[in-house]
Amino acid sequence: MCGIVGYIGEKQAQPILLSCLEKLEYRGYDSCGVAVAADGIKVFKDATRVKALGKSLPKFGGTSGIGHTRWATHGAPSQVNAHPHLDCSGKIAVVHNGVVRNYQKLKEQLISEGHNFVSDTDTEVIPHLIEKHYSGNLEEATEIALNEIEGSYAIIVLAAAGNELVIARKDSPLVVALGDRENFIASDVPAILDYTDRVIYLEDGDIGVVSQNGVRIKRNGIEARCEEHKVLWSMEDAQKSGYEHFMIKEIHEQPGVIRNTLGEFTRDSEGSVDLLEMKERALESMLLVSCGTSYYASLIGKFIFEELLNISARAEIASEFNYHNHILPGTTAIAITQSGETADTLKAMKKLKETGCRVIAITNVVGSSVSRIANQTIYTRAGPEISVAATKSFMAQLMVLYWLAMSYSKAETRKLASLLMEMRQLPSKVQQVLDDEAKIIDYAKSLAKYENAFFIGRGINMAVALEGALKLKEISYLHAEGFAAGEIKHGPFALLGSNTPVIAIASQDNTYEAMLTSIKEIKARGAPVIAVAEEGDEDIVEVADSVISVPKVDTLFSPVVNIVALQLLAYYTARERGCSIDFPRNLAKSVTVE
Ligand code: M6R
Repeated sequence: MCGIVGYIGEKQAQPILLSCLEKLEYRGYDSCGVAVAADGIKVFKDATRVKALGKSLPKFGGTSGIGHTRWATHGAPSQVNAHPHLDCSGKIAVVHNGVVRNYQKLKEQLISEGHNFVSDTDTEVIPHLIEKHYSGNLEEATEIALNEIEGSYAIIVLAAAGNELVIARKDSPLVVALGDRENFIASDVPAILDYTDRVIYLEDGDIGVVSQNGVRIKRNGIEARCEEHKVLWSMEDAQKSGYEHFMIKEIHEQPGVIRNTLGEFTRDSEGSVDLLEMKERALESMLLVSCGTSYYASLIGKFIFEELLNISARAEIASEFNYHNHILPGTTAIAITQSGETADTLKAMKKLKETGCRVIAITNVVGSSVSRIANQTIYTRAGPEISVAATKSFMAQLMVLYWLAMSYSKAETRKLASLLMEMRQLPSKVQQVLDDEAKIIDYAKSLAKYENAFFIGRGINMAVALEGALKLKEISYLHAEGFAAGEIKHGPFALLGSNTPVIAIASQDNTYEAMLTSIKEIKARGAPVIAVAEEGDEDIVEVADSVISVPKVDTLFSPVVNIVALQLLAYYTARERGCSIDFPRNLAKSVTVE
């Protein structure tokens, strides 16, 4: 939550800060601000989006500065609560991503010592603490201040002299990006892709000084030699490239995402699945922890593991798992999180490690916090996902889960080879769904007129129903609920009527007949039904009002084609309703608070 940026170099800092900040808005976008060292510190901030701030912003000269885009935790989104925050003298400015848990106590102490506070934020104690400890060395003062802070932070400190930026992180992400006689700091890589592909990932506890010509990082009290990494994402990856929204671009990127994952993990020539070193270890039981869309990927993962490995697998919502304790000895845990920063998932991982479990992380963000906790990290190959609604990252997670299950599977080679062959056809099957977009647009236009919708699925597609409902509600603000189809008659039926469309996933597997029955029962209550069904299915045409046809695939892979249809349905419904699709209200891409 919240994105922070810093720039120091030869160019005017202000436009660079604004362009970097715009790329971080997926982290929070209720208010934003910049501070530039230009004859003292000039701060400009407001409860608005970055583009709007840029338009109203007076031009400050100055070649160093910091910026922030906020997802409010302490204090409402307002100009006064927006970052950067200043000390009393106005000579020290700070941007912060994280939470200062003991801010109330620190604030009272600082007020009693004569410091004057203007905001409701936890962050404001940081510049005041630095001011209190400052005696000529900004890094030293910051280090002493941070020692008094309990909580999480990624911070950038700017002083009026403007010749250096002090940076530090603990439990919130921060990268330093290296340019030619200029350096950048950002919460995440997409911010700096326009400028450089050379980055250093900071670790928890790091504190450092960034100047125009150098970066000095102190790790565990001593100067560290930090490894420089080359970013594999390109500038185009973080641009809309002619699409109206990032979300629709990301939906359309999915065939490529599947291809990349398959290329990464399988050997073409032998038609076999490339094995992980961990194949050597026997898998007794499996626990998947995650939140939101990643949790729905976990539910599908549970199904795949049980089916292909014949072991017992559990999928748990991380925030719930954190409050109960039953873990079987010998459990292998998989934490799934596209951002790699979700607080609940990180907490669950720590708990699992403490109880002796081996934890494998699946994430899309290199250098993110999960990789520091996990025993092993598997990176998905989705490329940067900017839209708050997860689409292609979900697809990449599914691909990794399929590959993992096939790696471990003791199923006969012929069965695995045939599944692998099917997997290779998935990009073209997904493309087929995308090519049929026009029909889905028509259905979305009618769905957009309703205020409630139900999604139902059975078996492996129950999770797809939940994910379809989440996609629709988060971007179109239409109230949507997903159910196991068999459950709908145990209560939700009371809400059915002509104003409650039901989206039913009817895959050709052992659940099909039961799904037809559910649809008939729903129709008998007057609710309109849109079915997502296999092409050529004539029975479904008889019972549903409308049908979205998807290509035939093995049941195990049916979530792949079905979810793309539902993503498109959600996107076009939200578009019809004129919603802010990439940045839905009240949400943020990485949820770093519990
Ligand atoms: O980064 P994570 O995968 O851990 O994020 C988990 C959820 O916050 C996320 O999936 C959220 O539900 C998305 N907005 C869904 O589109």
